[in-house]
Amino acid sequence: MKCRKCGEPAILELRRHNAAFCAPDFVDFFRNQVREAIRKHRMFARDEHVLVAVSGGKDSLALWDVLIDEGYRTTGLYLDLGIFDYSVESKAKCEAFAARRGVPLLVTRVAEAVGAPVPVIKNVTRRPPCSGCGLSKRYLMNRVALEHEMAVVATGHNLDDEAATLLGSVLHWQTDALSRQSPALPSTHRKLVRRVKPLYRLSERETAAYAFLRRIDYIVEECPFAKGATSIAHKEILSRMEDASPGAKHNFLFGFLEKARPAFERAEAVTLNECARCGQVTTGTVCAFCKLADQVKRATV
Ligand code: AMP
Ligand code: FES
Ligand code: ZN
Repeated sequence: MKCRKCGEPAILELRRHNAAFCAPDFVDFFRNQVREAIRKHRMFARDEHVLVAVSGGKDSLALWDVLIDEGYRTTGLYLDLGIFDYSVESKAKCEAFAARRGVPLLVTRVAEAVGAPVPVIKNVTRRPPCSGCGLSKRYLMNRVALEHEMAVVATGHNLDDEAATLLGSVLHWQTDALSRQSPALPSTHRKLVRRVKPLYRLSERETAAYAFLRRIDYIVEECPFAKGATSIAHKEILSRMEDASPGAKHNFLFGFLEKARPAFERAEAVTLNECARCGQVTTGTVCAFCKLADQVKRATV
């Protein structure tokens, strides 16, 4: 197997692109895909300050690494979910990365913002831990960006994440979720920052290869609450399809974005208000985050 660019021995084959690359040319390919994502969806401009949400995993740290090398002004945001050793270790990975690259990292504790860490929220709400956790993450990313006057938050969602989310939404025909599924969500209110996913063109295997080649030290373990999550089952199904037919994940996601998504966009027409408690954006009177914080307070005092 030879590198498509230089003809030297390849280290990685990308069947969906019908190509193989040596290490330096793969790193180049990876960065090009990120550049293309930013350009195509006008994710952010050269002079914008980008808040990069980092979990300590391979994807978000690989994203941060590329954006730093591309010369963007970035600040990392780590949300400490308070999930036992998993949170302690993932926070340490983010801190070590920030120190090594000499970039600023903000840390926000969910326990402080909501009143309790994710394992307690899970018991109080009696819902899957990921629901209160996801709600808190989205809310806090937006709030921290506003507090620091940054207009855009970038997350490390990759092609596998996006294709699995799409499959989940399609299986239940969740039209709201389908209208919101995009590599770049614009700001529709002055208190809502843009959300972008510059890795959506790259698979999980490719971000793992990039992190390895760039010697990025990341947390390998998944969140302990992720076990048995339907998103994992969806990823497995899609990976089996990909094995049988390289490019299946890509075609599924990109076909949706290009051909089907516009049909769901009308569902976006909702009125946005400012939460009576915290002032962040909500479709009701009090936002879901403030309601969650109330529920936690009632159950823990
Ligand atoms: P996940 O939902 O865990 O697959 O994560 C998707 C993306 O959300 C990651 O690539 C990060 O950009 C962001 N993210 C997840 N967990 C955290 C966290 N604890 N702190 C900051 N960002 C996070
Ligand atoms: Fe949110 Fe696991 S990361 S519950
Ligand atoms: Zn609120």
